[in-house]
Amino acid sequence: MSFDRSIKIAPSILSADFANFGQEIQAIEAQGADWVHVDVMDGHFVPNLTFGPPAVKAFRPHVKTVMDVHLMISPVDAYIDAYADAGADYLTAHIEAGPHIHRTLQAIRGAGMKAGVALNPGTPADAIEHLLDLTDLVCVMTVNPGFGGQKFIDMTTKIRKLREMIGDRPVHIEIDGGVDPTTAPLVSAAGADVLVAGSAVFRGGSVDAPDVYGKNISTIRTAAESAL
Ligand code: DX5
Ligand code: ZN
Repeated sequence: MSFDRSIKIAPSILSADFANFGQEIQAIEAQGADWVHVDVMDGHFVPNLTFGPPAVKAFRPHVKTVMDVHLMISPVDAYIDAYADAGADYLTAHIEAGPHIHRTLQAIRGAGMKAGVALNPGTPADAIEHLLDLTDLVCVMTVNPGFGGQKFIDMTTKIRKLREMIGDRPVHIEIDGGVDPTTAPLVSAAGADVLVAGSAVFRGGSVDAPDVYGKNISTIRTAAESAL
C-alpha cells in the first residue's frame, strides 16, 4: 500500500444491508469506493452493537481494495490479534477507549496492520502529539460515534491543526460522520484525505440499483476535490 494524499472515499457498511454484506461490498467497490470502512461497536464504548472478528473475517474475501476497521470498543488490546487474523489492513482504536493508547498502537503495528487513532469530537488535536510516529491514520470523528446518519459537527479547526502537526509524515487524516457533498469540501480543504460516508453513499441505492452508489460516491468525490 503506497501512501498519498489524494481524496479517498470510504463507504461505511454500517449503512449497507446487514443480511447481504458480501454483495454490498462488491457493489460499492465496483462503483468506485477506494476503501471499505467497517464499523465495529461493542454496546459498551458506544451505545450500539454491530459485529465482531468472525464477521469481519467473512467480509475479507469480498474486499479487493483496503479494509479499514474502526473499533468503537473498549478494551481494545485483547482483540488486536483477532482483527489481524480477520485481515484488517487498517485497525483504528479510539484514544478515549483506555489509558494505554500508545501501547495499543504499537501492538496494532506489531500484529502487522496499519495503526489508526480516532478522536471523538470533544478530544483535542494535541492529545495525539506524542503518538504521531506510531500512527498511520488519524480519524477525526465529526459525530459522536455509535450511529450512522447523524448531523455533521464542524471540526475544521481541529483538522487544520492536525494537518500542521503531521507535516511530512505519511499519516492519513480520515473524517468520519455526516460526510456528504455539502460537508466534504470543508474537510478536504482543511487537509483530510480519507472521507468515510455511510448514509450519503448508500442512500437511494441497493445491490440491484448499484449505479446510485456510484453516483453518490462520485458526487462526494467531486465536491471534495473541488475545494483543493
Ligand atoms: C459512526 C461511524 C461512522 C458512520 C458514518 O459511529 O463510525 O462510520 O457509519 O455514517 P454517516 O456517514 O451516515 O454519518
Ligand atoms: Zn466509522
